Amino acid sequence: MAVRMLVLVMVVAIGCTGAQQLQGSTSSTARPLDGLSPPTPAGPIAPGERQFRVVYEWNVLDFAFANEAERAHALYNGRYIPKNVLISDCKPYANRLYLTIPRMLPGVPATLGYIVRPENNGRTDPEIVPFPSWEMNERGNCSALQFVQGVAVDKHGIMWVVDSGRTETLTRGNDHVVCPPKILLLDLKRNGAVVLRYQFPESVVPAGNNYLNKVVVDDAFGGFAYITDNSGADPGIVVFSRRLLKSWKVRENNSMRAARNAVRFAINGTELNYSIHIDSIALGPYYNPNIDADRANGVLSDTLLNSQNYERNVYYSPLSSYHVYSLPASLLRDPEFNARATPQQILEAVVDYGQKVSQTDGMFMDNQGVLYYGLLGEYAIAKWDTYKPFVAGRLNPTEVNFRILRAKTGALSYVYTPDNLFNSDEKYLYSGANGEPFADNALNYQYEGTTPASSRLAAAGILGATGTAASLGSGFSVTVLLSASIMAMAMMISSFV
Ligand SMILES: *[C@@H]1O[C@H](CO)[C@@H](O)[C@H](O)[C@H]1NC(C)=O
Ligand SMILES: *[C@@H]1O[C@H](CO)[C@@H](O)[C@H](O)[C@H]1NC(C)=O
Ligand SMILES: *[C@@H]1O[C@H](CO)[C@@H](O)[C@H](O)[C@H]1NC(C)=O
Ligand SMILES: *[C@@H]1O[C@H](CO)[C@@H](O)[C@H](O)[C@H]1NC(C)=O
Repeated sequence: MAVRMLVLVMVVAIGCTGAQQLQGSTSSTARPLDGLSPPTPAGPIAPGERQFRVVYEWNVLDFAFANEAERAHALYNGRYIPKNVLISDCKPYANRLYLTIPRMLPGVPATLGYIVRPENNGRTDPEIVPFPSWEMNERGNCSALQFVQGVAVDKHGIMWVVDSGRTETLTRGNDHVVCPPKILLLDLKRNGAVVLRYQFPESVVPAGNNYLNKVVVDDAFGGFAYITDNSGADPGIVVFSRRLLKSWKVRENNSMRAARNAVRFAINGTELNYSIHIDSIALGPYYNPNIDADRANGVLSDTLLNSQNYERNVYYSPLSSYHVYSLPASLLRDPEFNARATPQQILEAVVDYGQKVSQTDGMFMDNQGVLYYGLLGEYAIAKWDTYKPFVAGRLNPTEVNFRILRAKTGALSYVYTPDNLFNSDEKYLYSGANGEPFADNALNYQYEGTTPASSRLAAAGILGATGTAASLGSGFSVTVLLSASIMAMAMMISSFV
């Protein structure tokens, strides 16, 4: 029980993914969603733009009910309990910032929604508009969204929504919803039209006994999602192939389970013991595993378009851990390898990047290979350039309840990968000449020492000193989701446990 609880608490703290669309203050008119082109990298960054700035802050989160009578009714019958509403993840697209609001406690009327950028209505505490609709957020209806914690938006404007299917994960009771876990693909250019609905098989993600947490999307071979499942029972990375409409789970005990030496958390002076498995996840840029990146130096970025750059690293970390690990994406994508590999073979493919100064809940990669990750014990964000060592300055914003901050970084999200053989060739996107699915296992894998960087965590710079966690927007910002109420939640949960 304690394990499940902690997941939730930290999860809240984690990972609001920043907002490239939020960073510009120049445009004050709402643009239509249609026809919006992907963002382009920013130019040089003025020193002031590197500072964290508050974009939104709330005391409690409110929803866009149809009218006051409806809000009053929801408050009266317990469908909406303001203090129980917590943001977990946020992703920008066009002029909106999409938020996930997992139903950890009763009284969360919608689990997915959006807010508009403050320039559009002048509010820094906007109401959350349920997305794609109130109906699609109906608690207890398994066709609708029940418990959304992680979302990813790919470079085509498709949102990958992961729904654990369970509700009230933080409370005891016998009235909790248990629906089959699923992944929905929503087209943000068509106001959330459902383009795909996939239900996970019980053998991969069991209903009522999973904790699907964070998700990254890989544009190779028609699209993959890598999802962390930090359930106490069976942690691992759930891999979903959009083209094959199949999923499987990759397990590795040494790197994906909580480490015994990292179960103690100091949350605002209160010490808690929690054992939480694989949680954060990030996807690195393409690279050529056959060249020594350390020696290649500047040459590496010039070869990003080269078809030899077929590999990407999937970085991850358990919440209860001081380490960041990676596995090659090609290995995760290969269901045959996963089915036949021995635990030792999978372990041999894991790279350990060394020791962090604190536990991490939430990490994010940009498309230049820079990884941002939170340091819970330090209330800080670290910035690690996986290509070269980097030390950044220290910044000190102030504190409140719910707060989203941003700072300009000059790079785009990892989803903005250049086109290459693996993400744009028709035959990989769909099927072979005779319609047979393409087997993503014909590459010449090389696992040993293939990473573009090694053991450089110690050189990572502390970028900001305030957030419980951080991540990078799909544009140029690092955003922090800061919540004093997380501390309150931690207290509440520890007393409940
Ligand atoms: C359940 O939700 C779906 C999707 O919003 C909707 O089409 C359907 O009518 C709902 N079912 C019930 C019984 O309300
Ligand atoms: C991984 O750990 C779990 C829980 O301790 C155990 O049941 C399982 O056998 C382990 N798997 C391997 C391959 O060691
Ligand atoms: C956490 O665990 C450690 C060692 O297992 C123990 O010494 C400590 O008292 C525990 N702290 C709490 C708050 O339970
Ligand atoms: C941390 O604890 C102190 C003392 O109990 C309290 O005044 C403060 O508000 C807490 N901070 C947060 C962010 O909860």
